[in-house]
Amino acid sequence: MALIPTAQKGVVMKLSATLSALVLAFTTFTCQAADPIVIKFSHVVAPDTPKGRAADHFKKLAEERTRGRVKVEVYPNSQLYKDREEMEALQIGAVQMLAPSLAKFGPLGVRSFELFDLPYIFPNKETLYRVMDGDIGRKLFSLLDPKGITGLAFWDNGFKQMSANRPLHSVEDFKGLKLRIQSSKVLEAQMKALGANPQVMAFSEVYSALQQGVVDGTENPMSNLYTQKMHEVQRHLTISDHGYLGYAVIVNKKFWDDLPNDVRAILNKAMEETTVFERNIAQKDNDDALAKVRAAGTTHIYVLPFKDRVVWQQTMLSVHKEFEEKIGRDMIQAVYLTAAEVEREKASQPNAPARKTKPGPVKP
Ligand code: LMR
Repeated sequence: MALIPTAQKGVVMKLSATLSALVLAFTTFTCQAADPIVIKFSHVVAPDTPKGRAADHFKKLAEERTRGRVKVEVYPNSQLYKDREEMEALQIGAVQMLAPSLAKFGPLGVRSFELFDLPYIFPNKETLYRVMDGDIGRKLFSLLDPKGITGLAFWDNGFKQMSANRPLHSVEDFKGLKLRIQSSKVLEAQMKALGANPQVMAFSEVYSALQQGVVDGTENPMSNLYTQKMHEVQRHLTISDHGYLGYAVIVNKKFWDDLPNDVRAILNKAMEETTVFERNIAQKDNDDALAKVRAAGTTHIYVLPFKDRVVWQQTMLSVHKEFEEKIGRDMIQAVYLTAAEVEREKASQPNAPARKTKPGPVKP
């Protein structure tokens, strides 16, 4: 090694210290740049459902538009958590984003979301969207704040159909049947009103419970029924549209509030666009699923005639009254009024159909 005079040695040491500091600063900077904000988005349905596809759509938009500053990890099919566990995981920050069905907020202590479970309360999607996007939707989200949760959007799925291993034509056919429900008191009351025996069960357990005869039947929109292969273990399906299933996209409040403002703004916009995307695909996904179940030939499909729908509706109407206090009479009334408003607008349009094809909203 060449000898360096003492005076120059000091300069060399200073230079190398500066170089090391620069290297350290650069490494820290690149590490930070390479360390994205991770959003774990857990859900319980298959990827090829309205919710599953929307979760993937949001991931794409969020990652592209933040140029990698945000990474969204989507965990479908209860891979990470089942129904109830995922709510707890969100509250402790083990995941950051969920989209539980509106029937699953009761265990959180927010029963008003069960408004959406009331049988036959939404005569059409127009009424539904007005309720979700208006004062009621905002009020519901405000109830989540004290639970450490922020509501971002309402996503659609669709109207539910009934399935079982025996035909479900008249209300009497429900007598004594064990039917799987989500964790909603309204759904429990609905099944009891029909004379059935409701069994709360996590979504991930339904297929095997049907297969093993632990329960006799269930209710869900077609996209869930088909993608979970429930038609393989249900011989009868009744197209009844007797209730609704949709979702609230929710995030851990602290996580969301702590995001850099520009990132949060990008994610909000991505969520807004994803919601439009999701609502646009939901009905078609359900129609396609019905066609696939029909093609599978495993299940007899019965479309409930109008006159029987009216009987089903009358039978379940008591549930609305029963839940006035728990859900809020004002909220239920507001849905009736919205439905009537939509009906009026439709009737005043040129070429309005002379007669409704479905039972109208339940009258206040
Ligand atoms: C169910 O449990 O039946 C549904 O909530 C599943 C879902 O998320 O669509």
